[in-house]
Amino acid sequence: MGADGTEVPFNTPTIFNSSLNFRFGWEGKLRTMESDVRASLENPQIMGGTLSEITAKLNLDAGLRASFAAAYGRRPDADNIVDALVSFGRTLVTPRSKFDRWLAGDAAALSAEELDGYHLFKSLGCVSCHQGVNVGGNLFERHGIFYPLASPDPVILRVPSLRNVATTPPYFHDGSAPTLEDAVRKMARAQLNAKLTDPQVGALVGYLNTLTGEYRGTSVRGAP
Ligand code: HEC
Repeated sequence: MGADGTEVPFNTPTIFNSSLNFRFGWEGKLRTMESDVRASLENPQIMGGTLSEITAKLNLDAGLRASFAAAYGRRPDADNIVDALVSFGRTLVTPRSKFDRWLAGDAAALSAEELDGYHLFKSLGCVSCHQGVNVGGNLFERHGIFYPLASPDPVILRVPSLRNVATTPPYFHDGSAPTLEDAVRKMARAQLNAKLTDPQVGALVGYLNTLTGEYRGTSVRGAP
């Protein structure tokens, strides 16, 4: 539910590694992290604030005034508040996943099944959309190419990153896939016209589990 009590149309995306995406939000309408932060602060469904109100409130706090003076040489204002949030957002990266360690040369980081999953991910064609440093996040694509996937609108989405994907059920822009198994099966059919066997689904899910990274030295985990 949104801050204003109405239903938000999109499954909340993770902020981890979002600085590595080429556009922001499911539809990729926002081109910079600054515009994404502004939209989150001011969207009535998300935080329902205004930057002038936020600036006025932060200026009432002597500690924050001092911190902003130290960092920016001036009091909190719309630009440096957004810049501070974006700067923090850029620190929310989660390196050292098993897959990162494997790519860096640690051949033992992936099990045989996980490696099978990676090979399938490439040979089936998942990698044609989920690719690059964020294993996604760098393309716009249609969904529901061969068969309907989730709710049909919007037709074009920014391909989501699959980093930490095992920790963020439910899946898809409308949250319609409750588990990773379900999401993988539906993706293969809807995007690639492929009907996967159970062992193939198991191997792909095994591979996707290796994309879970670390934040400040601790493995990323989903909500309990
Ligand atoms: C033609 C491009 C394309 C191909 C090929 C593709 N995907 Fe996707 N994938 C997408 C798009 C677009 C979405 C977002 C769909 C939505 O939210 O409705 C997505 C979403 C996902 C999600 C859910 C992510 C989340 O956070 O909700 C998973 C998991 C996934 N894909 C895995 C795969 C796997 C595994 C394959 C190969 C079997 C694959 N994808 C092939 C474009 C593609």
